[in-house]
Amino acid sequence: MFIGLAALIVTDVGGLAIPWLTKDALDTYLAGSERTVTLWKYPALIVLAAGVQVIFRYFWRTHLFGFSRHIEWDFRNAIVAHLQRLPLSYFTHTKTGDLMSRLTNDMVSFREMLGMGVMAVIDAAFTIATSLLLMVVIDPWLTLWSLLPLPSITILVLLIGNRIFDRYRDVQRHLSTLSTFVQENLAGVRVVQAYVQEENQQRHFDDLSREYRALNLDLVKRWGYVTPVMTVLSGLAATIVLWLGGRKVAMGTMSLGELVGFYGYLGMLTWPMLAIGYVINLYQRGSAALARLLEILDTPVAAGYQVPGTVQVSEVRGEIELRNLFFRYTPDAPLTLQGITLTIPAGTWCGVVGETGAGKTTLVSLLPRLYEPPPGTIFIDGIELCELPLQTLKQAIGFVSQDIFLFSETIRDNILFGNGGATSEDLETAADLAQLTSSIQEFTHQFDTLLGERGVRLSGGQKQRTALARAIIKNPPILILDDAFSSVDIETEERILEQLKGFMRGRTAILISHRISTVMEADQIVYLKDGRIVERGSHEELLALRGYYYRLYRRQLLTRELDALSDNGGARS
Ligand SMILES: Nc1ncnc2c1ncn2[C@@H]1O[C@H](COP(=O)(O)OP(=O)(O)OP(=O)(O)O)[C@@H](O)[C@H]1O
Ligand SMILES: [Mg+2]
Repeated sequence: MFIGLAALIVTDVGGLAIPWLTKDALDTYLAGSERTVTLWKYPALIVLAAGVQVIFRYFWRTHLFGFSRHIEWDFRNAIVAHLQRLPLSYFTHTKTGDLMSRLTNDMVSFREMLGMGVMAVIDAAFTIATSLLLMVVIDPWLTLWSLLPLPSITILVLLIGNRIFDRYRDVQRHLSTLSTFVQENLAGVRVVQAYVQEENQQRHFDDLSREYRALNLDLVKRWGYVTPVMTVLSGLAATIVLWLGGRKVAMGTMSLGELVGFYGYLGMLTWPMLAIGYVINLYQRGSAALARLLEILDTPVAAGYQVPGTVQVSEVRGEIELRNLFFRYTPDAPLTLQGITLTIPAGTWCGVVGETGAGKTTLVSLLPRLYEPPPGTIFIDGIELCELPLQTLKQAIGFVSQDIFLFSETIRDNILFGNGGATSEDLETAADLAQLTSSIQEFTHQFDTLLGERGVRLSGGQKQRTALARAIIKNPPILILDDAFSSVDIETEERILEQLKGFMRGRTAILISHRISTVMEADQIVYLKDGRIVERGSHEELLALRGYYYRLYRRQLLTRELDALSDNGGARS
């Protein structure tokens, strides 16, 4: 950084020396006292000054721009680290495309402000100050006159500065919208094509692009005023100098060399003046970008990261207790869970059934603190969730969520995701338990098969079983399966459950399902309706109640019987 600054100053000094040398040269020659030596002296010195400029310009560029790259790197890492700790609720109301745009476009604008911006400010300040000083040394009165047009620049900047800043923010905001649109269209390209919406989406994109172009053109137009006005003003200054200075030379109160030198310095002022405009440009874009980046950093991270729990446990047994748990997603949303009280002793299975939207997923999302439960409502081994270190808590829970996400990496990487230290045997055991092995053997690269974006090359059931293997290999004392068999046929499901029984001995499990067959062997089953537990007990007890569970069971039994009947009928015909 300091080397860069020093090199910048040396470069400027080189530049500033040239008009002064020209002045001295002219005065010496015109005085007619030149000898062969001096005839060569000035051109040689001018070439030298230019050479110094060339060399040191290289140094300041590499050093100052390198500096801004370092800051950018640090800052970007900090933001990504922060993003990963933000509460899930943040991501439900923030769009991925918008975040991507901030991390790329806004980051670039911010870096340019740091690199080019800082450089240009220092460069301009130094050049202006020294040029002015040298001009004053040559002729104070002429300096004063030539600066007359200057205040108008300030007025110009003040007049349009704010409006340009606002416009930059609009442009960057719109770029976010544009990125989001593209990102969602690519992620959802199946839907777009399946619903033949290519043209519609194209048109929509065209509209968005057009608006982006219009915003940018407007910005260009506003900037369009700046450069010509600056040029006119510097032309005006030059005119004043030529007129007044010319008269002085004619009257003999100023030497021709002085006038040429003075004029040279005036010329050197033009670039910094324009640079000021450029810096304001960079600064406004950069600070608009910085504001958008700081917005991310200003969002508080999830509660578990803010106040880490401190109770150390050597081993989680897996007893889960919910005490009168009420939960709503946002302060103004309706209650999703209403007074849930439930104890799942360590090493037992709990089945959860209920209609769609009853709050089953919500209930289990609270256990690993994906959403923050109210204080005093959830206990594991008798310890309140927030008192457990986040790491301990999350290590203890194997979670297969309802909407599976797989990374665009190999099957192996995906299964090992939560337990990089697992051995190949662990991997195979987990795949076996999840009934995944036969599917994997069909792939040429087996575990090293690469999954496309979001694992498009796996079937729905294969994805679910991969996710199951990912949870099993963590070897967790608590396993949560949220509708994890919905895309798996009943026979495979039965095989998985049968195998899991052995693996799960001594572990706690919560099984959420729409199928009675998944939960009927659980130690206890709860029926959730509108965020409340309306029935609880074992399969037999719930059947005896002849309530919701019983009716669900009857319906599913009937469907199965009908299926079996039509299968047989199909076989006979
Ligand atoms: N992230 C969220 N933010 C706000 N509301 C949500 C969120 N997730 C779910 N909800 C709401 O909470 C309620 C319960 O949803 P939940 O996903 O827990 O139901 P579910 O029982 O798992 O349903 P399903 O059987 O369809 O999976 C729904 O009304 C849903 O709209
Ligand atoms: Mg659900």
